[in-house]
Amino acid sequence: MDVRNRDQFMDEKHRRRTGAFFTPKLWVDEAHKMMDQQLGPNWREEYVVWDASAGTANLTRDYRFKELYLSTLEQTDVDIILKSGFNPGAVVFQFDFLNDPIEDSIIGGPSKLPEGLKKALEENRPIVFLNNPPYGTSSDYRALFNNIHKEKIDHTEISKKMKEERINGSSNLMAQFIWGICNIPKIFKLSVFSICTFSQLSILTIPTYKKIRIDYLNNLNYKSGFIFPSTDFIGNSANWPVLFSIFSEKNNLPRENNQTIKVNIKNTNTLKTIHNNDYTESEFEWVSLKNITSKKQGLSLSSALTVNEKYDINIPVNSFGFYSIMNTVVKESKNGIFSSGVGSIFTDRFCISPENFEKCISSVSSRMVLNDAQWYEMNDIFLKPDVNNILYQQWVNDSIIISIFNLRQSQISSLRQVTYHNSLWDLENHFFYLSNQEMRDLANQHNNTILYQDTFKYPNDRFVYNKLQSLQGQFSPDAQAVLDKAIELTRLSFPYRKDADPKFHLNAWDAGWYQIRMGILKEHFPKEYSEFRELLLVLRKRMAPLVYELGFLKR
Ligand SMILES: C[S@@+](CC[C@H](N)C(=O)[O-])C[C@H]1O[C@@H](n2cnc3c(N)ncnc32)[C@H](O)[C@@H]1O
Repeated sequence: MDVRNRDQFMDEKHRRRTGAFFTPKLWVDEAHKMMDQQLGPNWREEYVVWDASAGTANLTRDYRFKELYLSTLEQTDVDIILKSGFNPGAVVFQFDFLNDPIEDSIIGGPSKLPEGLKKALEENRPIVFLNNPPYGTSSDYRALFNNIHKEKIDHTEISKKMKEERINGSSNLMAQFIWGICNIPKIFKLSVFSICTFSQLSILTIPTYKKIRIDYLNNLNYKSGFIFPSTDFIGNSANWPVLFSIFSEKNNLPRENNQTIKVNIKNTNTLKTIHNNDYTESEFEWVSLKNITSKKQGLSLSSALTVNEKYDINIPVNSFGFYSIMNTVVKESKNGIFSSGVGSIFTDRFCISPENFEKCISSVSSRMVLNDAQWYEMNDIFLKPDVNNILYQQWVNDSIIISIFNLRQSQISSLRQVTYHNSLWDLENHFFYLSNQEMRDLANQHNNTILYQDTFKYPNDRFVYNKLQSLQGQFSPDAQAVLDKAIELTRLSFPYRKDADPKFHLNAWDAGWYQIRMGILKEHFPKEYSEFRELLLVLRKRMAPLVYELGFLKR
């Protein structure tokens, strides 16, 4: 078997736990080319080179080095390198970078590094850290729901240290590696070094890694970088950008904190500018509730109609909805929930109240209208929009329509007498768009006694209805068309409510669009429903470019 492809034959579970994906030769050579340009053509002679996640030496085997150290987790990989005779003269050793001690310490014991490498570090010799770290996460937010746990990722010595120092990202192997490598120059007070590493592009963008950037990467000298699609790793179907970047020790040039990093998108010959919120207010901070005075018990839902008994939650007293903004990154943009119930244990700052209503709808709409993104945009993050842009207020108005009528993500519902933690609950829908009086009249007209009574039990017009009234004439024509069609279909479908499947709770007068379309429209009004979808598409298409124009995303 070609050892370059060894991980193709690895047991999938083992591969995921150890994060083993090999680097294709094409990208190894590109990385070397970039290092030649940035560090000079003789860097392999001038620097000590250490690959601390060498696997079977893919990054180095085709090149010659004066002083090379190759370490990796698996003894079998060490044996393969030695047997194959790759990089003759290199010191190859088994070393668990995330657990084994680098320096002698009372707690960790003596350093497990070979003498030569230890000496090179202690003598402050120029060194290149070249590697492609393992990829894998012990848990992401989905894991909280699905009980996915990748064993042991969370329990390494480095992850413990990161937690002690309150560095986010400690459950991600790649982040642990990068943090660990960035720390070595600090430990040994190195003055000439380069960190030449593959990673996910998210290391430069997402808020999770903000502290790694602020404490380390942003203080180094970013030399250059390129990205390529992760599908180039054999067996990896998820398509996100893999970054190769070169960071060197800080030079004496004055540098702005918020340096602009540009990476080359391989095969397109274009430069991509990296944006993050390291020194500016993030979208999350902007959207989240600031003044929570008192709280009440909330009903936890996992989707529009499903109660989630797992969580016991308290929500701000004046909140009437929930916006999961876990999806700060583009690749998660279709996973958020916008609902009238509360989705999860996550912070009550995700709740919607009059205070942050406009920000929430405006932000959720940016996800809803976004077209399919390219692979190289997958790790871009959503930003606080430019609220001073003259187009912003129109966006907000039209976002009301998008956020309540969009098909995916909009999980708005009204529920009656659902069991949650051994008691019966009603959930009101403050995103409903018709008046209480109109629904009462319809109930009267169509002899729907239950709904008629419901209008008296909950007699108040809803927040969104009042908003729509106050904004009459201020929606864009395509948004108005969607609203008009939804209202028409709500009226048209009314007679079917009485006999609809009780699971849709359509006898709640303020039942949401999700309930109406799933419980009645799809079955009884397919033609009209598809007309509605066409109108929605027109609106979404028109709004999509504004996501960039208003700065929710930047190119
Ligand atoms: C993404 S692969 C890269 C392999 C090889 N350097 C290449 O570029 O093809 C990451 C490698 O790190 C190794 N690894 C995982 N955890 C490690 C650890 N704690 N210490 C050292 N190596 C580790 C894996 O076994 C795997 O070979």
